[in-house]
Amino acid sequence: MDSHTSPHSPGRTITKDDSGALDRTLRPDSWEAYVGQSKIKENLRILLTAARERGHAAEHVLLYGPPGLGKTTLAHLIAKTLGTNMRTTSGPAIERVGDLAAVLTNLSPGDVLFIDEIHRLSKTIEEVLYPAMESGVLDIIIGKGPSARTVQLDLPPFTLVAATTRISLLSAPLRSRFSGGTFRLEFYTDDEIGKILTRSSGLLGMAVSDEVVRNIARRCRATPRTANYLLKRCRDLAQLEGGALSPDIVDRTFTLLEVDLLGLGAPDRAVLDAIINKFGGGPVGLNTIAAATGEEQSTIEDVIEPYLIRQGLIERTPRGRVTTAAANDHLARFEHSNT
Ligand SMILES: Nc1ncnc2c1ncn2[C@@H]1O[C@H](COP(=O)(O)OP(=O)(O)OP(=O)(O)O)[C@@H](O)[C@H]1O
Ligand SMILES: [Mg+2]
Repeated sequence: MDSHTSPHSPGRTITKDDSGALDRTLRPDSWEAYVGQSKIKENLRILLTAARERGHAAEHVLLYGPPGLGKTTLAHLIAKTLGTNMRTTSGPAIERVGDLAAVLTNLSPGDVLFIDEIHRLSKTIEEVLYPAMESGVLDIIIGKGPSARTVQLDLPPFTLVAATTRISLLSAPLRSRFSGGTFRLEFYTDDEIGKILTRSSGLLGMAVSDEVVRNIARRCRATPRTANYLLKRCRDLAQLEGGALSPDIVDRTFTLLEVDLLGLGAPDRAVLDAIINKFGGGPVGLNTIAAATGEEQSTIEDVIEPYLIRQGLIERTPRGRVTTAAANDHLARFEHSNT
């Protein structure tokens, strides 16, 4: 973690504490600490143990699901279980074929290559990845025009672990090459989030009651990253007030953050409000919702919509999104309690 002296309070060292740092401090480093997702864990246990016993690299694995559910954490655990190094890159970081070639040729035998946001790889790069995944070779074209020729390089055996929030953007040929399996991460139950919060509060050195854990669990959108984030915001307020992390502090933190009883924040409610009040409850297209709310279309699709659908507040139809009666009730109740 980076630390530096704050210019505003000379002599006092503060630590930089962005969400990346939070992810790393609280990231489980063992299967025991990785809560939930039991089907995925069982499948991976068999795949990884068998590969390890055979002394081969494990087959390629694709992980998908909304942000903050534990894809990057799983990739780390896979590498740890195989007892190998993990190299990390991402779709947007691989701009040219040469970038991918450099990554692949620098792997050691058995390494895990983690490609985050794999849906952002270009078609050209995907086509270089296919033979690498399937036959462990890299086809490189040297020169241009009539004198161009293809050179084939053998790659060390490796396991590709790829993650995406947008499986629908992956081409069928790419998807089919994840021979080790494609796994969808599920939202977490309140009990599972409770376990994660209990562990996190221990790591952060604070005592929290069951009631506090339950209150945060109910409002974290069934997402571990959000649960940890809310826990830290509650801790901040408790610290400023010089007291314990009481249920009252939790309530006040939620009010400050505008997180409502279902765990929705202002952007979520803005989406519901736009569909209901500007478009008569829908159906309305995603790009229209994006324009009406000022949110990126990808944010709506990746972050906002999956949870609203899970809560039964909106539905996807062939002609666009529609809100349900529950959405009307929820917004009305929220507005009533805030006026
Ligand atoms: N199953 C789990 N058990 C305990 N903690 C978890 C679990 N999954 C995620 N977390 C916590 O949530 C944080 C975020 O998880 P992670 O970075 O793996 O999510 P992600 O799916 O890769 O998200 P993104 O799509 O944004 O990259 C982790 O650092 C960890 O603290
Ligand atoms: Mg991640």
